Amino acid sequence: MKLLHIDSSILGDSSASRHVSAAAVAQFRKKDPSVEVISLDLASDPLPHLDVEALSWLGKDLTPDVSGRPELIAGANALKDFKAADIVVIGVPMYNLSIPSQLKAWIDRIMVAGQTFRYTSGGGIKGLANGKKVVLAVARGGLYGEGSPAASFEHQLSYLKSVFAMIGITDLTVIEAEGLATNGGADRARILSDAEQKASAL
Ligand SMILES: Cc1cc2nc3c(=O)[nH]c(=O)nc-3n(C[C@H](O)[C@H](O)[C@H](O)COP(=O)(O)O)c2cc1C
Repeated sequence: MKLLHIDSSILGDSSASRHVSAAAVAQFRKKDPSVEVISLDLASDPLPHLDVEALSWLGKDLTPDVSGRPELIAGANALKDFKAADIVVIGVPMYNLSIPSQLKAWIDRIMVAGQTFRYTSGGGIKGLANGKKVVLAVARGGLYGEGSPAASFEHQLSYLKSVFAMIGITDLTVIEAEGLATNGGADRARILSDAEQKASAL
């Protein structure tokens, strides 16, 4: 069993999503101590923006030509590690209504036609990455739930749901810690603790 653990918050130890994703990974380790965990910290070890050269290596066997190009190797490995994982746990902060650009750069490595999805002859899309369990540990300062005044500004979770649906993920669990900054942060400890408890009960 392989678990890919990804964090993308720039806030280090004070990050909410990192705490919740760590609790989820701890729970998977508890359930299966033999699980092999691969960790990717996209804040301390970011992937560069995708360019045409990096794109050309995705899904290919790396040759000695790229041995001196760690950024190309990291990008190709991101796709390889994602495809090999049985479980993927991702810490996702909301930044400016969406996801951190570091996480977008990772998505640009794993959402690759012919690798994780393909276009069908009828103009549709077929996901090729089925069979994985994906857990999103989502953190937000404000409130964006259905019916809230800012609901239509939410492009973090709604975007990720589309990404994973497109590549064929049907087993998606979302743990949300939202409203962390409302009431001047007075509810932060309770909201975070509730989310950590949910992660520990996976
Ligand atoms: C650069 C930046 C942008 C943010 N943008 C938003 C935002 O658009 N909406 C919101 O509700 N919270 C926003 N926040 C608050 C974060 O979503 C909140 O701090 C959350 O805890 C981030 O997750 P993290 O603690 O794992 O980093 C922002 C925070 C930062 C640092």
